[in-house]
Amino acid sequence: MRLILMGPPGVGKGTQAKKLAAVYEIPQISTGDILREAIVNDTPVGREAKEYMDAGRLVPDDVILNLMKETLGSEKCARGFILDGFPRTVPQATGLDAILVTLGIRLDAVLVLEVNEDIIVERLSNRRSCPECGAIYNLKTSPPAQDDTCDNCGAELVQRSDDQPETIKNRLKVYREETAPVIDYYAKKGMAKAIDASGSVSEVWEKLQSALSQK
Ligand code: AP5
Repeated sequence: MRLILMGPPGVGKGTQAKKLAAVYEIPQISTGDILREAIVNDTPVGREAKEYMDAGRLVPDDVILNLMKETLGSEKCARGFILDGFPRTVPQATGLDAILVTLGIRLDAVLVLEVNEDIIVERLSNRRSCPECGAIYNLKTSPPAQDDTCDNCGAELVQRSDDQPETIKNRLKVYREETAPVIDYYAKKGMAKAIDASGSVSEVWEKLQSALSQK
């Protein structure tokens, strides 16, 4: 299975991608997670990405495409992958097409999660993540058993630095301007399938599975 999971910041891509990865036994490839790890490790890519991410802007296409060329060609992606947060611009989508041609593989589906912006702001303001194992919580809808502690590994949960109100507003603007055209790109190829992501995590999960079973 080779899948793109698209949608605005905070719609629930990461939450659903983790479930898909567990069920289909293929990796979740999140460009956001790869970049955050590069920042923690203070690599040249991380140093370049940080200022863009803190401002809620997109990291330049050439940086992302170089990362993805390497990742998608690696052994861990040989049986399939779930792309979470990539491609995010039309040049990234055409760059992905070129990578897929080089690797001799095709996408199976492009699923687009949709929800209104009030729900997004609410979800992102209450998000907490585990810096160790990557688990995602929500203080309102899926809180950890113990305040600020990861249920899986016991690490202290953190709030992402780009989940501040002003940065969220900017990320949504960037999504409307730069990423929404990517949906049209895949719609023209007859590949984009919209999924209403306004329900609970399990309701959205059922809709995703039903969309995939129709493939
Ligand atoms: P990235 O890390 O990709 O962030 P994003 O796309 O903005 O998405 P999020 O991770 O914020 O949200 P999500 O949709 O995964 O939601 P989640 O499941 O966590 O990118 C960050 C930055 O990196 C970008 O701004 C950019 O600078 C850079 N970047 C990354 N990729 C790039 C690229 N390709 N090109 C250029 N730059 C790039 O859920 C959110 C919250 O809601 C959680 O608390 C969760 O528990 C809760 N929740 C989820 N689903 C539900 C539900 N159904 N009901 C109730 N609560 C729910």
